[in-house]
Amino acid sequence: MAKRVYIKTYGCQMNVYDSARMAELLAPLGFTVTQTAKDADLVILNTCHIRERAAEKVYSELGKIRRMKAAKAGRGGRMIVAVAGCVAQAEGTEMMRRAACVDLVFGPQSYHRLPKLIARALRADGDRVLDTSFPVEPKFDFLPETTGPRDVATFLTVQEGCDKFCSFCVVPYTRGAEYSRPVIQVVAEARRLVRGGAREITLLGQNVNSYHGEGPDGREWRLGELIRKLAELAGLDRIRYTTSHPRDVDDELIAAHRDVPQLMPFLHLPMQSGSDHILAAMNRRHTVADYRRIVERLRSARSDLALSTDLIVGHPGESDLDHRATLDLVDEVCFAQAFSFKYSPRPGTPAASAPCQIPDDVKTQRLGELQLLLANQRRNFNAACIGRTLPVLLEKPGRHEGQLIGRSPYLQSVHVTAAAERVGEIVPALITAASANSLSASLAEVVRA
Ligand code: 5AD
Ligand code: SF4
Repeated sequence: MAKRVYIKTYGCQMNVYDSARMAELLAPLGFTVTQTAKDADLVILNTCHIRERAAEKVYSELGKIRRMKAAKAGRGGRMIVAVAGCVAQAEGTEMMRRAACVDLVFGPQSYHRLPKLIARALRADGDRVLDTSFPVEPKFDFLPETTGPRDVATFLTVQEGCDKFCSFCVVPYTRGAEYSRPVIQVVAEARRLVRGGAREITLLGQNVNSYHGEGPDGREWRLGELIRKLAELAGLDRIRYTTSHPRDVDDELIAAHRDVPQLMPFLHLPMQSGSDHILAAMNRRHTVADYRRIVERLRSARSDLALSTDLIVGHPGESDLDHRATLDLVDEVCFAQAFSFKYSPRPGTPAASAPCQIPDDVKTQRLGELQLLLANQRRNFNAACIGRTLPVLLEKPGRHEGQLIGRSPYLQSVHVTAAAERVGEIVPALITAASANSLSASLAEVVRA
């Protein structure tokens, strides 16, 4: 009998990718994806642990799920509740204790075992199952090679895990050590995605530009080389990658930005802080001068490169002067887009137990200042596009009839007046208006891609 799975995804794009793989793993077991938890036979919360609020959301969702599970049991039905992802990895045992409705907990490195784990949980006498091991076999070798239709713009994980151990970050603990998929495997997956209709692929990794996968020639390939290889795929018109670390921006990657037209002129390059003192405390292992130099080199390789970044305010020990330095560096570099956060202590990370924690009201005030500056930069960047004609990849229908939503090369969301069947085309769009979050455009001329 057909069974329904509801998957709720929190956090980063890698979780979005992982959720899609879980759905594919479950399809052969008869599970179809449903958009409502209420009637689901299996509920999976694919969680994020990066900041405290992300983890709290999971527990509050579990409260709702518990009531749905009880209601379903009252109707004689059964609901298996699974928690996946980074909260599961970091707090699995605690979660089993705190949330009695949870049947199954598994970490990001063990979801390829999902069919077995579900079978165990489904047994009438089924125990609650906890699997947060870091298996020796890379999970990518066990994922199904599905060939179905794909989103026009889609994701492909090429690297996972992190060996950098920034003071504030849980990722090295939840996602484990760095692992890069072999080039052949990545190219094969990209080919399937393109065959399924994808025209844009974003290469994903917690530290994507530390990629060092085994090449077909037996050498280790770096990300720049991989991008060149992928650019040979006919039908793959756009390539992006995220998230990168300044230390791993090498010559090869900069050259790819110069030479590969499919590589979009937009780069997310986390800066975290503009103070050398705080960058050292964060164990970022680069200085302000390094960041500045990397940006200069990238911009001279690709003059229209737009930058995005991540910033944290209120890391332990951050003084007013350090904060000022961050504002100054943001002012100087100028970002098209940015994510900024209050420092949130994560259990088990060095910064959580560091002295000189910053009071919340100071963090709030600093975040407000920073976000004002970033919002201005973003608005200016968008406004400067008015009157330009940009190639826009049309991805999906918009909210209004006759309107499609696509992306510019700079990852801006663009609302274009165009017929529904044009989804999947890259069209020249004349930008007519801009807001803080998106652009509006009309078709500049009709070109069939
Ligand atoms: N507190 C606040 N922000 C954090 N980030 C990671 N860990 C923390 C934390 N403990 C931010 C960083 C990172 C982004 C994904 O999340 O800026 O680049
Ligand atoms: Fe976390 Fe990124 Fe630092 Fe790795 S490089 S520890 S993922 S912030």
